[in-house]
Amino acid sequence: NGNYEVTLIPGDGIGPEISESVQQIFEAAKVPIEWESVNVTPILRNGRTTIPDDALHSVQKNTIALKGPLATPIGKGHVSMNLTLRRTFNLYANVRPCKSIVGYKTPYENVNTVLIRENTEGEYSGIEHEVVSGVVQSIKLITKKASERCARFAFDYAQKSGRNHVTAVHKANIMKLSDGLFLSACQEVAKEYPNVQFDDILLDRACLQITQDPVNFNHTVMVMPNLYGDILSDMCAGLIGGLGLTPSGNIGRDASIFESVHGTAPDIAGQDKANPTALLLSSVMMLRHMRLNNYADTIEGAALKTIASGKDLTGDLGGNGTCSAFTKQIIRNL
Ligand code: IPM
Ligand code: MN
Repeated sequence: NGNYEVTLIPGDGIGPEISESVQQIFEAAKVPIEWESVNVTPILRNGRTTIPDDALHSVQKNTIALKGPLATPIGKGHVSMNLTLRRTFNLYANVRPCKSIVGYKTPYENVNTVLIRENTEGEYSGIEHEVVSGVVQSIKLITKKASERCARFAFDYAQKSGRNHVTAVHKANIMKLSDGLFLSACQEVAKEYPNVQFDDILLDRACLQITQDPVNFNHTVMVMPNLYGDILSDMCAGLIGGLGLTPSGNIGRDASIFESVHGTAPDIAGQDKANPTALLLSSVMMLRHMRLNNYADTIEGAALKTIASGKDLTGDLGGNGTCSAFTKQIIRNL
């Protein structure tokens, strides 16, 4: 053990339990990585929310991290630590696949969507102010540079995954400048990839068509500005059973952070009831990113087999198993 060192950010609420589950499964599968566990409590420096130095240095050194959920205050309060991490390490593309899980029934079958979310700007730029009392402005910042970088990632992903198709999702009919720039960046990058097909769709139409028949989107990689990606990825997750089952990866040039995007579930925290699947599947995505594909396949296979067996499933999946019993089943199925 110990060829690779990976930063672990267990997170808040159910974070530590589901992180423990992933660690146990990795150990049982003899994955050659060693965890460096750090906390990311918000630290205010010169009026800016930042992460603690040891967390900063750990991610900088290891370049790969796995992260549980972090509580985000609504309305007033510090900037979300989830966003602070994405910003600190310039994690410019957020990969969010949603694939139907055999044995877990939803009204949809054979869903297999991939969504790439621009991850550094848009409405998430944090530029907001009150003009006068009762009037506020929140700036949606879109740059050619970040749009192109994200688009290029989507086209690379399309090529590597064999989908060979990219669909830009936007509202350039309304947001003529911002989404117009994002769309034209995608169109420009498309010229660099003659073997990847490209089309685009309005966001509202995409929602309509995806909920009518998501399978029509199985052939493509959807790419879009930050807020659209946040919302549409939750919608797609809903098709396959929710955020407890979907992985996510924040990719940057110098570091990448893989995370479950569900909440901290404070109501069940510390009670051994949480479902570790989303974090586990995020860790599988991380292993593929590290080219540890054999371990990824083994762990993913065991997780899917366990869910299909219906044994010891957690409450959110309709069972009455505990997190630790579910984890043991996965280890048995390795
Ligand atoms: C997500 C989450 C975050 C976001 C929150 C927790 C800040 O919903 O990763 O999708 O809005 O991006
Ligand atoms: Mn979200």
